[in-house]
Amino acid sequence: MKGRKAVSTVVDIFMYLLLFIQMLYVFTGNNIHEFLGIGFFVCLIMHLIIKKKMLPSVFKFKGKSKARIIANIVTILLIVVSIILMISSMGVSRTIFSNFHYVCDADLHVYLATTVLTLSVLHGGIKWIMMSKEKKKVAVFVAVGFIGSITAGLALVPYLNRHFNEVQINFAEKIHGDAVKWKGSKPLVVYFTRLGNTDFEDNVDAVSGASLLLADGVLMGSNQLIANMIDDAIDCDVKAITITGDKYPSSYSSTVSVAGKELKKKTHPAIEPIDIKGYDSIILIYPLWWGTVPMPVASFLESCDFSEKDIYLIATQGSSGYGDSVDDIKEMAEGANIHKVMSIYCEDIPDVRERVGKWVKELNN
Ligand SMILES: Cc1cc2nc3c(=O)[nH]c(=O)nc-3n(C[C@H](O)[C@H](O)[C@H](O)COP(=O)(O)O)c2cc1C
Repeated sequence: MKGRKAVSTVVDIFMYLLLFIQMLYVFTGNNIHEFLGIGFFVCLIMHLIIKKKMLPSVFKFKGKSKARIIANIVTILLIVVSIILMISSMGVSRTIFSNFHYVCDADLHVYLATTVLTLSVLHGGIKWIMMSKEKKKVAVFVAVGFIGSITAGLALVPYLNRHFNEVQINFAEKIHGDAVKWKGSKPLVVYFTRLGNTDFEDNVDAVSGASLLLADGVLMGSNQLIANMIDDAIDCDVKAITITGDKYPSSYSSTVSVAGKELKKKTHPAIEPIDIKGYDSIILIYPLWWGTVPMPVASFLESCDFSEKDIYLIATQGSSGYGDSVDDIKEMAEGANIHKVMSIYCEDIPDVRERVGKWVKELNN
């Protein structure tokens, strides 16, 4: 009996800990998040098995005290929302359940996780209050935890989406720098960015006349900014990858869902043709989407013959380095020599002009 209680306590502590760590997605990155998520659900199942004898009483309300009724409702909600969260986790998974062909809205997944965290605080808290002699003190503690988890949850979605708010920078200031010589034949810079491929509403169209205000990546196309920096540094041609069919939605989370579906179904959207004949070197600039290249970039890579060509990769990302993009590109651009150049954290994009110039200088030395 004692051993069972100890196991139960350890499982419960792990569950709370894992749930909390899961909220730190921006720091853990995707893969750790997915593995720990499985850990959480394993603990949840163990918790239910350990408490299985008490489960039927959760669904009995007759003759129960008010506190017990509230505790039962919280427990039932917690079980239901946890199951929905589990399904949504598979829907947003990029690594472990990447073949699960259902994609959940990323924001909805965060809100569900927050609800599970808040209900868990209540679930454990109410029990604690019921067992404690100093009920008032414990109740204050639980109330603080409850408000804290709701607030954190509500703040988390805008925080995770913070890179997608408009940021104004001086375009000219950011792209101008030293000109550098490219030794071989003129390279072709190919980039993919949301601007031009997204159905933005008129009022968020980012280029605002002669002052050329640059908004953050989503609105202005930060990958386009890097292409412009390279164009300023060397003699090159620049082409954008542009889809010809339906554009991506203007909302970030909807774009994540659409892009996730495309990736899982291996849909390669139609794009305007890009002729790479006559170029020995291609500098490919792409944002990381779901840990790899956006599917329109895959369309580009599979539409051309890259044999013997050099492809220089510049990835931009919100945390994942190159993700799986390098391996995926190697598979798609058969016969090409692939070179990793740099992976840029999205907030650093406006300030990479010097880094870009330095790379070209070193390469051509
Ligand atoms: C659909 C979508 C999926 C994304 N997936 C990832 C990802 O898996 N890893 C990551 O670090 N960043 C991810 N991001 C963030 C982008 O890489 C980042 O916004 C981009 O580099 C900025 O360039 P842009 O302004 O041209 O979109 C994603 C962004 C979008 C829109």
